[in-house]
Amino acid sequence: AQVNFSEPYRPQFHYSPKINWMNDPNGLVYNDGVYHLFHQYNPFGNRWGYMSWGHATSTDLVHWDHKAVAIPYGKEEEEGIFSGSAVVDHQNTSGFGDGGDPPIVAIYTSHYTREDGSTDQAQSLAYSIDGGQTFTKFEGNPVLEFDDPDFRDPNVSWNEEMGRWLMVVALPTQHKVQFYASDNLKDWEYLSDFGPAGATGGIWECPDFFRLPVDDNPENQKWVLHVDMNPGSVAGGSGSQYFVGEWDGTSFIPDETFMETAPHWTDYGTDFYAAISWNNIPEEDARQLWVGWMNNWDYANEIPTHPWRSAMSIPRSIHLESNNESYSLVQKPVESLRQLREDPVRLENLDLSDETIDLSQEGISGKAFEMIVEIEPGDAESVGINVREAENQRTVIGYNSVNQNVFADRTNSGESDFFEGFEQRNDVPVHLSDGTVKIRFFVDWSSVEVFVNDGSRVITNRIFPDPESIGVSAFADGGSATITNIEFWPLESIWTE
Ligand code: FRU
Repeated sequence: AQVNFSEPYRPQFHYSPKINWMNDPNGLVYNDGVYHLFHQYNPFGNRWGYMSWGHATSTDLVHWDHKAVAIPYGKEEEEGIFSGSAVVDHQNTSGFGDGGDPPIVAIYTSHYTREDGSTDQAQSLAYSIDGGQTFTKFEGNPVLEFDDPDFRDPNVSWNEEMGRWLMVVALPTQHKVQFYASDNLKDWEYLSDFGPAGATGGIWECPDFFRLPVDDNPENQKWVLHVDMNPGSVAGGSGSQYFVGEWDGTSFIPDETFMETAPHWTDYGTDFYAAISWNNIPEEDARQLWVGWMNNWDYANEIPTHPWRSAMSIPRSIHLESNNESYSLVQKPVESLRQLREDPVRLENLDLSDETIDLSQEGISGKAFEMIVEIEPGDAESVGINVREAENQRTVIGYNSVNQNVFADRTNSGESDFFEGFEQRNDVPVHLSDGTVKIRFFVDWSSVEVFVNDGSRVITNRIFPDPESIGVSAFADGGSATITNIEFWPLESIWTE
């Protein structure tokens, strides 16, 4: 297939494979100056199948190099290489090292299809002694089995207190995760179960478990369990929730006050799934970073892109904020994205009285950009910004005073006939502070990511607007409002290939 990164709907500052199908991020690990992004990949087609680990690398989390398939589908044994994680085994606990650089060990799910058509899942290892370029499957696979055909998505990290490897892994149909510990990544000791809890309307997948400082205070740390759910999430189809609590060395104990208000959704949009965090981030850069699959199982196989399908979200740093005895997860776009900003446009005190103002004469328009708006809703019913606009379509991002919601509305955003429920509006409850709300959003050729009040709420949505829809306008309905500040930057494309 001809690939030029200017196909209709090709993301300009989000990772996408050159060709073929992609789903979950896998094996996110930092090593020796390089961020590795492995991912679920079908090397043979543009729909889900022949699951393998695709691979890309970056030194800045913004520009990506496409690499060869890292762990291929096992043809002989019909072994799908399902989701999992990767660690740098600094002490060579696994013995896979050859005395040179520490091995990178991938812990993934083997999805076996038996002769009678039934399937089974178990956890397996593959290791790299060339810095993550090539992997060898461990001959002792699988290393962990359990009496349930759905048992997947092992997420392993080094646990300082235990001095051992800690795995969290999903029992999807039981709405549970399990914790295991190991000294060598090969032999695993069962520790505990967690769940069912919170939202259980769909199967549980792709757990992640990590510690975060509360309000950036390193003296006060909490554990976060993040788990994906499909279907039945907040915006329909696939989405994710998180739990905040303590780790006692054996079990995860969620805070009671936190559970009283469960479920807590990670993202209020349709298209943020299977996010996992990078392992082995250097200590001086003690951020927790993750990326999610920007798609939804409701329609993932049908979205109108070719010769590739799917994209990753922008990488985000994750933080924990305390509020009223509880906690909320905060996500911020990685700082390094700022390098893509072209010349800014700034506007102040735009008064809107039941009207829509075209911003293109101010120099605000385009298909790939970042924008920050600060809104005083006044007595307007709703106020906000239309993006990717033409006469007959627009995606609307704004604040609704009647419902006290920030919303992203794609009911008339472009192509939608590939899925019946695609035309929808996503709301997230927001409290105004001093009568204002701040919304930062990233618009690409086929997505919007909306960060509310510095990332305390997020809406991530795919859209498929006409490539000619480049208008941006500001509106207030049902009264008067002021947009006190607008900052706008066109964003440069990351693709030079
Ligand atoms: C989540 C998921 C995982 C599984 C993978 C298979 O999107 O269903 O649970 O490992 O995709 O591709």
